[in-house]
Amino acid sequence: MKDIIIAGNWKMNTAPVEAVKLFNEIESYFVENSYKSIPFVQNGKLKFVACPPFVYLQTLQMLVNQSKSLLSLGAQNCHFESKGAFTGEVSPTMLKDLGIKYTIIGHSERRTFFAETNETISKKIKSALESDLIPIFCIGETLEERQTGKTNDILKNQIEIGLSQILDVATDLKSKIVIAYEPVWAIGTGLAATTEQVRDTHTFIKNEVKRILNLDLPILYGGSLNENNANELLRLENVNGGLIGGASLKADSFCKIIEIANSILKN
Ligand code: PGA
Repeated sequence: MKDIIIAGNWKMNTAPVEAVKLFNEIESYFVENSYKSIPFVQNGKLKFVACPPFVYLQTLQMLVNQSKSLLSLGAQNCHFESKGAFTGEVSPTMLKDLGIKYTIIGHSERRTFFAETNETISKKIKSALESDLIPIFCIGETLEERQTGKTNDILKNQIEIGLSQILDVATDLKSKIVIAYEPVWAIGTGLAATTEQVRDTHTFIKNEVKRILNLDLPILYGGSLNENNANELLRLENVNGGLIGGASLKADSFCKIIEIANSILKN
């Protein structure tokens, strides 16, 4: 049985009350459907993550603790230093101290709008791991890169540089990394990658990661993943879950995707 992680990326969305409401609705879904008693949830084969904006992490982590929720929280980014004169930034140690488990690193919106490079991303991955956070390391090609046949070269470069700082890190630490393949052209467009594209690209990524780290890391798919295409995409052999933007902002849609993941593992 493979592992599946269903992760929501809330991006810069939700008002404070909406964030709490969304959490409560997801939590109610888990309780009403007795998720805690599902064997593959108990043994961590099926995991759930939500990545709200930084400002809500502390409140939501308190709610997670109070309800002993199955939902883990992740940040959407972090800095690579643990403290210092970096106005506006948040360090991995701060996140860890709040009880946060994951952090997205290198999302395409960070690369595009905040000039993140493969080099800074590689430092962040190392620093997150050293702070005992699980990095969700995002990679993906633009439409132009796909159309000109450069997808694999771009991904190879992102993977090679992104993982370059952690080659000497202990295996039990680096085995915690989660990769998210998010074709830039599929993010927020309603146009997910096709089954064939996801199958081929995930296989390529799997092999590249294995070549560099000698590890089989989980690979999530992201980019217009929703309740209508989740069944087809999450079933694929090298797909270990999804990083979900738009559809994670509606509890109904997010919980539908969770239900689909549950039924894939059950059968
Ligand atoms: P989307 O976003 O599901 O809205 O396409 C995914 C992401 O950016 O992580």
